[in-house]
Amino acid sequence: MTERAALPSKKRQLKLRERRADQSGAMTMDLRVDSPQISAEDYEFICRIVYEQSRIHLGRDKQGLVTSRLAKRLRQLNLGSYREYCQYLESSMGGEELRFLIDRISTNHTQFFREMKHFDFLGEKVLPNWRKTNPGETFRLWSAASSSGEEPYSLAIYLAEKLAPASSGLWHITATDISTRVLDIARKGIYEGDRLKDVSQEWLRRHFQKGVRDWEGHFRVKEELRSRVDFHHLNLLQPGYPFTKLFQVIFCRNVMIYFDRQTQTDLVSRLTEMLVPGGYLMVGHSESLSGIKHSLKAVQPAVYQKI
Ligand SMILES: C[S@@+](CC[C@H](N)C(=O)[O-])C[C@H]1O[C@@H](n2cnc3c(N)ncnc32)[C@H](O)[C@@H]1O
Repeated sequence: MTERAALPSKKRQLKLRERRADQSGAMTMDLRVDSPQISAEDYEFICRIVYEQSRIHLGRDKQGLVTSRLAKRLRQLNLGSYREYCQYLESSMGGEELRFLIDRISTNHTQFFREMKHFDFLGEKVLPNWRKTNPGETFRLWSAASSSGEEPYSLAIYLAEKLAPASSGLWHITATDISTRVLDIARKGIYEGDRLKDVSQEWLRRHFQKGVRDWEGHFRVKEELRSRVDFHHLNLLQPGYPFTKLFQVIFCRNVMIYFDRQTQTDLVSRLTEMLVPGGYLMVGHSESLSGIKHSLKAVQPAVYQKI
């Protein structure tokens, strides 16, 4: 990992600190006491435009969370109040700022091998069957809210271990997210050691490079795995997905929870269209599809199959 070697050391240290904050996967909370207060009217405005763009429903109780996440932004923009911030959002710069706002508001929490039961299901049911019935074909998987990369890279490690080596070309992962900030982190594939506690020592050795000097304590996903994961910016709610081929499995986990029932119903129907017959949709374990109209067969908790 030599890409920072040319930076002067002070700057490099600052960058490292920024990157560590980014890579924690959690939003930085800014709890300065002199943060401006937000009026009900401005809060409603922010809720409305966030909802219109992302279908993230903030609700009345998220006011503190919103202001703590935006306080630093107001200072960066040199704005003294949320009224001015709302005006900024309505100005010609608003489109780009709205993207930034959604980045700050959305929760990007993720981890390696999160909700392991989905991986077990892949290893015990999906992959053995795939190998038997489709020898020589490429297994295509979509991580549809991939955050900072932990989910698609866990899947890449798993497929490399259980299906075929990355170099075989026998599997491919498409990873998408609405947040450009987390996608930038994901593409680099560099993680602090304590984020890798759920990766076995053996897999860590096999699939990560260990950082040295400035990168001490960091690990980078090896190029052969990174090259099998394609990251793209995609709003799951945008009309028409840009994929030309269907997927054997879609992981769409811990994102639907933010959407209202109608949005969830529409999303599940669109994800179903992107699956091959017999393909699987995995949702977060706290996101059962009960109460949603869909055509999938429930196979086990948080696992659904297209019939
Ligand atoms: C809590 S993370 C879940 C990450 C991963 N799937 C997991 O379960 O660990 C939710 C992710 O959904 C993304 N997201 C929120 N709204 C989205 C949308 N409309 N389209 C695509 N991604 C979205 C967020 O940016 C965030 O990275």
